[in-house]
Amino acid sequence: MNWKVENAQLILQDVVAGLAEMPDNTFDLCIADPPYGASSKAKWKYDSEKKLEGFGGNWKLTSEVWDLLSQNELFESTFIWLKEVKRVVKPTGSIWIHSTYHNSGFVNVCCQLLGLEIINEVAWYKRNAFPNLSARRLTASHETILWVHTGEAKRSYLFNYEDVKKAKFESDSLKKQGKQLRTVWDIPNNKKKVELLFGKHPTQKPLRVSERLLMISGLENGKLLVPFTGSGTEMIAGLKYGMSVVGFEINAEYFELAKKRIEHFLVTQQQTLF
Ligand SMILES: C[S@@+](CC[C@H](N)C(=O)[O-])C[C@H]1O[C@@H](n2cnc3c(N)ncnc32)[C@H](O)[C@@H]1O
Repeated sequence: MNWKVENAQLILQDVVAGLAEMPDNTFDLCIADPPYGASSKAKWKYDSEKKLEGFGGNWKLTSEVWDLLSQNELFESTFIWLKEVKRVVKPTGSIWIHSTYHNSGFVNVCCQLLGLEIINEVAWYKRNAFPNLSARRLTASHETILWVHTGEAKRSYLFNYEDVKKAKFESDSLKKQGKQLRTVWDIPNNKKKVELLFGKHPTQKPLRVSERLLMISGLENGKLLVPFTGSGTEMIAGLKYGMSVVGFEINAEYFELAKKRIEHFLVTQQQTLF
């Protein structure tokens, strides 16, 4: 199913299959929030006798079917979608990739194998992270976001340096107005009412995070790709910035949720501020 309204297009389809029909260098920016492989049933598929310390543990995040990837599938699928994304994003564009420790190693290695240069690795500090109930681990309170580009040695990617430097983010205790933005971002993970108006997605990001990515590397009137739409957060941030957006989602329920959120945004232009 292909839904189009104003500058937004949402496609109910596997992103790799969908991108295969698109020409090279179609997009100016990509924000990817892929499956993390963090669900409790995810296990390394090699010989079960073999102990691979450090993989997965019992850290249960979503228990969602789309997140139930075994570790070698996760590596393979990361490589495949990143390769397609690299092809469709212009050399002047950027790709942002969200991850946690479950998949951040894979994402990093895949970027390097594909010749996607890592510009920065951002630690998104969630000061209001949920406590660790088992009391057997530290409280997980950050996620990693990689900023990469496709332009190889030319480094022609867009960076809205001055906008970012002069920005003031209400909630971020680490960023001072007029100072360069660092790679640790203090952004509360809570969502405003308007972000949850049509239901929740189990791994929904707060709009503030995507808004910041757009401020850094967005291009007004350019084209944003959102390979894993979920509830539509990154698409709304892109529209708000003035880009046209294309999103893919394989789950019909989340497709409907994103549709409703985008329609509501277009009608009301309701915004969250930093
Ligand atoms: C981590 S969530 C994205 C959440 C999103 N950032 C938000 O704020 O709502 C990943 C989403 O990708 C979807 N998905 C997983 N594999 C996919 C694929 N191959 N193609 C398109 N969508 C996929 C899942 O259904 C899920 O909704």
